[in-house]
Amino acid sequence: MKILISGITGQDGYYLSLLALKKKLEVHGIVRRNSQKTYGVWEYDPTNKEKIRFYYGDVSDKTSLDSIFRSVKPEMVFHLAAQSFVQESWSNPEVTYDVNIKGTLNMLNSFREYIPDGKFYNACSSEVYGKVEDELQNERSRMWPRSPYGVSKLAAYWTCINYRESYDLFVSNGILFNHESPCRGVEFVTRKISLAVAKIKLGLQKELKLGNLEAKRDWGFSGDYVLAMYKMLQQDEPDDYVVATGETHSVKDFVKTAFETVDLDYKDYVVTDPKYLRPAEVQYLRGDSTKAQKKLNWKPKVKFEELVEMMVKADLERLSRHEASCR
Ligand code: NAP
Ligand code: GDD
Repeated sequence: MKILISGITGQDGYYLSLLALKKKLEVHGIVRRNSQKTYGVWEYDPTNKEKIRFYYGDVSDKTSLDSIFRSVKPEMVFHLAAQSFVQESWSNPEVTYDVNIKGTLNMLNSFREYIPDGKFYNACSSEVYGKVEDELQNERSRMWPRSPYGVSKLAAYWTCINYRESYDLFVSNGILFNHESPCRGVEFVTRKISLAVAKIKLGLQKELKLGNLEAKRDWGFSGDYVLAMYKMLQQDEPDDYVVATGETHSVKDFVKTAFETVDLDYKDYVVTDPKYLRPAEVQYLRGDSTKAQKKLNWKPKVKFEELVEMMVKADLERLSRHEASCR
């Protein structure tokens, strides 16, 4: 059984590949050529990197995708590639739309052309809820995105549903709430915090500059969430599912817990910097994953406090060993 992953060099691509290797699947992944670190997270895991078959391509380049689909002919496709940083989507809206909307359309068209009987997973996001109405957001909640990123993910979500309905394709959307890990990109708030806490503890950094400390997110562990993605493609019918923990915490809660892990008080180190405030903010997210729990028999394992501790400890260990950070 062959799977093809776009976005294989990112956080989720890494954990999904490890899961697939464990299940003895043949893992193929699309990578963008880069002047230095083409293989992202994989640069730090050479043993497993050897087991993956990589192909140069870009989701905004349909020619490259056609050639990969034609030669690999995978049974399952996980489309994870995206300009995934919300903050950047205001400064690079065109790239965000090109990669996230047109890139998804390109992936769907290659999929339809070369493996119409295969299965396709699309990485949708809780950012589509944006200006939330419901205390707990589920598959039927109103979608009102608040950033170019959120808008792009909503367009890609509907494009997937439209392809499913128009061409009778197996295309499923996972509406995933925030999920993190020691391999999270360093610009996202959780990893920015865990890395800073580790550096402050080791005397390598003096303060931590953050934006909105009151924003609330439903944070889970990437390693748990990739299992839900995989299970979506083991179903008989395609569908859309919310994947979340059902708990919400503020950025301040995260920062406080992270500093407590190393016996420090965040108030002595955290300063707010308007540079990190967003033109429009998603103030609150909390997901209801009842459908995924019932239909996929999935549930999150790692709790909020465990996640924070896992991330801080990983950064502390890596820095203490003078090893390069995961990303
Ligand atoms: P990530 O770590 O930022 O990884 C993004 C991946 O997309 C990287 O492999 C990146 O490659 C690749 N990529 C970007 N532009 C590309 C292009 N034009 N062509 C080919 N590849 C491209 O993101 P993640 O956290 O793993 O998230 C995976 C997916 O889930 C994304 O679609 C994200 O929007 C979505 N999502 C994430 C979360 C979350 O909390 N993590 C929640 C909901 C949805 P490079 O290494 O070359 O940059
Ligand atoms: N990045 C960042 N940096 N965020 C900060 C900072 C800071 O210094 N200070 C406060 N925040 C707040 C942001 O304003 C936001 O409310 C919250 O922390 C989380 O920001 P991010 O970690 O950047 O994640 P996100 O919620 O915007 O987006 C992530 O989750 C989405 C799912 O809801 C990304 O992974 C998206 O790709 C994903 O779709």
